[in-house]
Amino acid sequence: MLKRFLIPVLAGVAVAAFTLTSEHTVRAAASDGKAIYDGKCASCHQANGQGLASTFPPLAGNKDVTGDPTKVITSVVKGVNGSITVNGKSYNGAMPAWRGQLSDADIAAVVTYIRSSWGNKASAVTEKQVAAVK
Ligand code: HEC
Repeated sequence: MLKRFLIPVLAGVAVAAFTLTSEHTVRAAASDGKAIYDGKCASCHQANGQGLASTFPPLAGNKDVTGDPTKVITSVVKGVNGSITVNGKSYNGAMPAWRGQLSDADIAAVVTYIRSSWGNKASAVTEKQVAAVK
């Protein structure tokens, strides 16, 4: 009697444990946009996306970031040089290209993160869209 009850329960626990483990693995393998941002971008653009003084432009509330996905992807893939105007303020610095430092999947994840954080509400971008930028 006890055996008949225990076997299905143990089998259920085993299946649940397996499911949890494999989900965890999938999540760990996917690129984490926030982690990439905090590690690679926040030193200049700040953890809150507000940028710093007149040197590093804000990404929060920035229409170049939330507008046409190709523009923001291109900025991150190829870097940005020369004079740009963000929210009426001009910046004239340089950001190195991130292709070569980050995989296309990582760039897609971090661009998705900056498009959807700090009040920004723009669509996610895919690795395919990043790969399409030459
Ligand atoms: C070393 C400092 C530095 C780091 C690190 C950095 N940036 Fe930048 N970023 C800049 C500067 C400076 C500019 C503006 C360049 C100019 O004035 O032409 C810029 C511009 C941008 C722009 C264009 C903004 C616009 O309005 O067109 C985007 C998007 C951007 N950065 C995203 C990122 C992301 C994502 C990361 C991390 C992967 C990152 N940046 C890391 C310094 C940095």
